[in-house]
Amino acid sequence: MIDIHSHVLPGVDDGVVDLEESLTMLKNYEAAGVSAVIATSHVAPKRGYANTRQQLEKTLNRLKTAAQQHHINVELYLGAEVDNHPNLKQVLKDAPSLNDSGVVLIDFGMKQADIAEVCYELSLLDYTVILAHPERYFYIKMDTIRALHKQGVLMQVSAPHLIGHGSKKAQTLAKKMLKEKLIDFVATDAHRARFAPGDMLKKAYRRVQKKTSTLYAEAIFKENAKEKLFGGTRT
Ligand SMILES: [Fe+2]
Repeated sequence: MIDIHSHVLPGVDDGVVDLEESLTMLKNYEAAGVSAVIATSHVAPKRGYANTRQQLEKTLNRLKTAAQQHHINVELYLGAEVDNHPNLKQVLKDAPSLNDSGVVLIDFGMKQADIAEVCYELSLLDYTVILAHPERYFYIKMDTIRALHKQGVLMQVSAPHLIGHGSKKAQTLAKKMLKEKLIDFVATDAHRARFAPGDMLKKAYRRVQKKTSTLYAEAIFKENAKEKLFGGTRT
């Protein structure tokens, strides 16, 4: 499995606090069979997370070194979770896409936005958008999700919402998306090591496998990431 949404980098946002917690999280990923994690710290200037590519890269390299020293076998890649912003194009200039794939993880949050228009404009700049946990946007309806998906916008649903955690509304929407196979990626959005994101992902995988098929579970927990974010070369 590959986790494409994780706040595993220490001390850069509201995620993991220090290096020790990052290592605990990575050990849990490894034990659960997660082979790669994309570190998607917040790039959200309005919330005070004005992380730049350079800063995130530096922290990622520090974590990679520590993980090697502790013999933890989980590959780490650079990414970011970027909040929608009136000047999103400018913000994206200094925010890393997921593993430099040109695919960006965008959180439209709780403020209603014309998601279709924003994604269309970004597509003109050769970006592909993954919506970060759309099941959490209180204003979004299944019709909108269907239309966005048809437009080529990719959907990341958070694992907890598939296994009985989080708000009922988010769980309901996540289930509906699963039923219609409108999910492209399941990820953890892990902020704390104590929530054991590896175990969570494994549990969600089994649920998806049971509700749909092994083929679909493989796609949304691994194969889609390999194809769209790792150029199809990653094993
Ligand atoms: Fe997140």
